[in-house]
Amino acid sequence: MTAELSPIDKAKYAAARRSVDFVENGMKLGLGTGSTAAWMVRCLAEKVKAEGISVTCVATSKRTADLARDLGLTVVGMDDVKWLDLTIDGADEFDPNLNLIKGGGAALLQEKIVATASDRMIVIADAAKEVAQLGAFPLPVEVIPFGWQTTKALIEETLYSLDVLNREVTLRTHRGKPLKTDESHYILDLNLRRIGNPRQLALVLNQIPGVVENGLFIDICDVVVIGNGDGRVTVRDINSGRIEDGTVNLADSGNIFADLGD
Ligand code: 5RP
Repeated sequence: MTAELSPIDKAKYAAARRSVDFVENGMKLGLGTGSTAAWMVRCLAEKVKAEGISVTCVATSKRTADLARDLGLTVVGMDDVKWLDLTIDGADEFDPNLNLIKGGGAALLQEKIVATASDRMIVIADAAKEVAQLGAFPLPVEVIPFGWQTTKALIEETLYSLDVLNREVTLRTHRGKPLKTDESHYILDLNLRRIGNPRQLALVLNQIPGVVENGLFIDICDVVVIGNGDGRVTVRDINSGRIEDGTVNLADSGNIFADLGD
């Protein structure tokens, strides 16, 4: 390994490493997007090589597809498989019911399609992503560029009838221009501070013309794997109510960098 990982990267690595224990030979897998998901893709590639198993992957972004292919994983389109056994992805926030805010990496649309079309969704996160109530992280909403300012105004107006603490909506930019998603849409970030009723908000937002999808994942996630900087991991299953504590050997993260020639 070339450099010592930061505590947050160790936590992300720990969660990612533990999550690939759920992967079995022959599975069709959804691969998430973001820094934690990138760790998972590296751990998965290592597992596939070490155990000689075969998996078929659908990526939730071009970034993830490129990484997975570079590491030798088989990546196909969503329509090639139509349904998946398991999706493993990161999140920006998760609450006690495992409802999520996602889309910090602007991939929420493909992420929601892939997670919804999976028998099981596992979220991997560092402990800081756990919240009592969603909303401190700005909620990403993917919109069509045509008339986006009208869509923004409609969202702002709609927020007045909803249980949120703040109503600031901003267009996400990159190098001074509107950030474009893989589908060439825009992202509006809703700084709400607290979302009183995430289910209602998710439904109402998707009724607004111009909105493609929102970053609230309600009743989609089954399991969360929470990593800590010292290698401790907790696996929480919302369906069975089971909670399991364990430890990941952080020294193994060095192998991944070595394998990549990093
Ligand atoms: C991308 C996402 C990511 O999963 C989320 O932003 C978490 O990212 P990271 O693992 O880098 O903290 O939703 O659209």
